[in-house]
Amino acid sequence: MKKLFEEIFEVHGKICTQNLIPGKRIYGEKLVQEKGIEYREWDLFRSKLAGAIQKGLQQCPLQKGSVVLYLGISEGTTASHISDIIGETGIIFGVDLSQQTMKKLLTICESRTNIVPILADANQPEKYQEYLEGFTVDLVYMDVSQKNQVEILAKNVEKYLPKDKLAFLCLKAKSISSTEDVNKVFETAEKQLKEKFNILQTLDLNPFDKDHRFYALKQKG
Ligand SMILES: C[S@@+](CC[C@H](N)C(=O)[O-])C[C@H]1O[C@@H](n2cnc3c(N)ncnc32)[C@H](O)[C@@H]1O
Repeated sequence: MKKLFEEIFEVHGKICTQNLIPGKRIYGEKLVQEKGIEYREWDLFRSKLAGAIQKGLQQCPLQKGSVVLYLGISEGTTASHISDIIGETGIIFGVDLSQQTMKKLLTICESRTNIVPILADANQPEKYQEYLEGFTVDLVYMDVSQKNQVEILAKNVEKYLPKDKLAFLCLKAKSISSTEDVNKVFETAEKQLKEKFNILQTLDLNPFDKDHRFYALKQKG
């Protein structure tokens, strides 16, 4: 077993997190035992954060007790691994617009009490202010399939993220434009990102997610 980041491990050659709820799978992932501890294999094709780690992510600020604002939490596939990492002392505020995906997420939240589901539009960060009151966010993680992805991130970061903390953005080119050249879409988005952020790292998520880039960002100033 090798430690890749705090609470993120390589077990038998696969990226894994220690299962917060032993014996329980979330999305059909493999459970593996090592020295009496149960780990969940993290599927590189189902989670962009796992894909980014595999592709050489250099910094991951997640640790036990971290507070995460997750935009586009969906059914909780990636969030379940973040939930393993941050443990019972951490918390994920998980925002999603879709009632359908929230239903699945709610079943996960029954056992994983460190995930707070929030049915809301990430375009309106003031709508979930009451949930975050009294918390200091350590990471904004964003994976929403919207044309204005950069704008949504900027609004949320401005409102909730202290200047010295990181944001991770999964950018899907085809959500911004289905017709324009992918590289051109990324070029424009990066120009927009640079107005507000220092881009610490850019990772192409191919072959795990085609036409997606993963950015590690810090606010300017
Ligand atoms: C690609 S999925 C996220 C997958 C998830 N991050 C994971 O790795 O398990 C994108 C999600 O963004 C949500 N979404 C799209 N627009 C949104 C918005 N304006 N506010 C909040 N969620 C949004 C969709 O409902 C969908 O669940």
